[in-house]
Amino acid sequence: MIRQPKLINSLSPYVPGKPIETVVREYGLDPKDIAKLASNENPLGTPEKVKKALHEAIDRVHIYPDGGAFYLREKMGEKFNIDPEWIFFGNGAAEIIEMASKALLDVGETAFYSQYDFAMYKVATYASNHRGVEIPAAPGYRLDLDAFLKAIDDSTKIIYLSNPSNPTTTMISGEKLDSFVEQVPDDILIVIDEAYFEFVENRDYPNSMKYIQEQGRKNVIILRTFSKIYGLAGLRVGYAFAHPDLLFMLGKVRSPFNVNILAQVACTAAMDCDDHVRASVAHVKKEKAYVLKELDRIGLSYLAEEGNFIAVDTKRDIVPVFTEMQRRGVIIRPLHGYNMPHWFRMSFGHRPDNEKFIRVLEEVL
Ligand SMILES: Cc1ncc(COP(=O)(O)O)c(C=O)c1O
Repeated sequence: MIRQPKLINSLSPYVPGKPIETVVREYGLDPKDIAKLASNENPLGTPEKVKKALHEAIDRVHIYPDGGAFYLREKMGEKFNIDPEWIFFGNGAAEIIEMASKALLDVGETAFYSQYDFAMYKVATYASNHRGVEIPAAPGYRLDLDAFLKAIDDSTKIIYLSNPSNPTTTMISGEKLDSFVEQVPDDILIVIDEAYFEFVENRDYPNSMKYIQEQGRKNVIILRTFSKIYGLAGLRVGYAFAHPDLLFMLGKVRSPFNVNILAQVACTAAMDCDDHVRASVAHVKKEKAYVLKELDRIGLSYLAEEGNFIAVDTKRDIVPVFTEMQRRGVIIRPLHGYNMPHWFRMSFGHRPDNEKFIRVLEEVL
């Protein structure tokens, strides 16, 4: 029998939100009757302009994509007012997280991530056969930046932070992050994962671009994604902003053609879809207000600081609640894997989906 390295063996595979197809198969339901609220996807779907561009590109899928994603890179450079050389792409932001671990962790070096923060940080660290250090959260499920600073030692190489944090919705303010970035030694990479930044309303949210653009730091990388606001989760494109010297290092472990032709075409078209972005933000705001009002009525507590999702405390074992809701056509994300055994996370669908969610939740509880 082949022996797996100890760290990798100790991992449980990342468990994504259940696909609609699986629930249809397992429970014999009609796909139309299923409200999938488990993966922070965009209920408004893919912008029409993007669909049109995809149709036009279909005749080109027999050729390899441009490995450097030239047109997408140029378009994004213009849009975000950044030199295209400072942009990096992954097959989802998840792949960039993996590339950071693979490209930078040397023998004996560690990566830090917070208790309750996005599960991929640990998976990526262990998968590259390196030790991860989980930093205990502060009260209220918040990332404790002081605890991160205190824990830094000679082995520390990467710090992963999601802001707002998935699944706890908590936000680190600009003031706190500025001071943190200032204190972290410049031979430690800080990965600032802003997968949900377009949904943030709080004015104290950091302007993290200044760490790289104004301050020229080579130890900061900002992650974002096309999966959420642009409604392109199925195409798998994430991106990063960072100094080209840092991106050069990550590029060494990038698989060739990691962003496929359809993905590049779709994301380029998505850059012209500001109306879709605005509509998606407005939709989340409205539906979040509706769901929170209903949760208040039911008397459940929740975390709902920033982002297109919330975490809800059912004060009982979440697994049977999740299973029963699924049987009734509502897919939420149980958080027992995050050591939050009474909690689930949900994003927002169209109003009928959200009404169904509330109805089923009340029935099941
Ligand atoms: C905090 C955070 N970072 C990164 C990702 C990965 O996004 P992508 O779909 O681009 O891989 C997610 C997705 O759920 C996320 O919540």
